[in-house]
Amino acid sequence: MKIAAFEVRKDEMENFQEIKEKLNIELECASEMLTMENIDRVKGCTGVTVLGQYQYGKEMLDALKERGVYYLATRTVGYNHIDIAYAKQVGIHVCNVTYGPNGVADYTIMMILLCLRNYKPALWRTQVNDFSLEGLQGRELKDLTVGILGTGRIGCAVLKNLSGFGCRLLAYDVWENEAAKEMAEYVDLETIYRECDVISLHMPLNDSTYHLIDKEAIKKMKDDVVLINCARGELMKIQDLIEGIEKKRIGALGLDCMEYEEGIVHQNLKVDIISNREMAYLRQFPNVIHTQHMAFYTDVAVRSMVYGSIEGIYAMWKGKEIQNQLS
Ligand code: COI
Repeated sequence: MKIAAFEVRKDEMENFQEIKEKLNIELECASEMLTMENIDRVKGCTGVTVLGQYQYGKEMLDALKERGVYYLATRTVGYNHIDIAYAKQVGIHVCNVTYGPNGVADYTIMMILLCLRNYKPALWRTQVNDFSLEGLQGRELKDLTVGILGTGRIGCAVLKNLSGFGCRLLAYDVWENEAAKEMAEYVDLETIYRECDVISLHMPLNDSTYHLIDKEAIKKMKDDVVLINCARGELMKIQDLIEGIEKKRIGALGLDCMEYEEGIVHQNLKVDIISNREMAYLRQFPNVIHTQHMAFYTDVAVRSMVYGSIEGIYAMWKGKEIQNQLS
């Protein structure tokens, strides 16, 4: 069988080569996104793997099917970029991957601390031999209440990491989980907004979580709240974040993702400012830390992503039931 892998980075190549040899399959790797323009590249392939920087809606799924591709694996945990319901309807088998939650959980703690200790302006200053302290006083986690929205594998790992800091931990999720209950108190969203000094999002993006953090939510939060997003940009409405920062309602933002980042993150856009206008404005503030959607990016996670995608396609093609099958 032949699989085509798109959005492939150089650092994934070794893992792709290994799994290709292990399963004795044909594999074609491309750094480009799979789009309607280059869709014919999938001809002759049984399966395709992508990395989430493009929307796979009806048109793309129909185009895959027309070219004989019935297996699609996203090398991501999140799958909001694929119309799963339509894939089911037209008989395209889709799977995602699982990787350890520690990479994102550790990164989240780093973001919280960078925000609480004013790291960004401190870094700016030291770069120009300004070693002054004025305006850089921070807050200690042990004195704060931290709210975790979404207590799946990543949310739970964040709670575990935070347990050592002595802060009060609150949690919110539509499904409460026993492991989280041992570390945090489940409360409703209103309580999270009212009582938390730091709020970190670890939920999937879907219709019920889209723009969860908007003007109305921000209005209910404490002054100087620190908001962390290492999940999906669209969980937070970027215009309302801008307003919250401009009006000094928000104390700091630690964003590993932002709304409208699709097609932008992981690309070198040094000479293209227009395409990420809001992003470019927001990240100029000293209390806004923005990184390139890289919380996932560790050696072990990349290996799991590559292996999981190819093994997933292979298993589905063999007619096996797999845990990560979505349609
Ligand atoms: C995910 O796995 O869902 C990620 O956020 C990783 C990224 C490559 C999109």
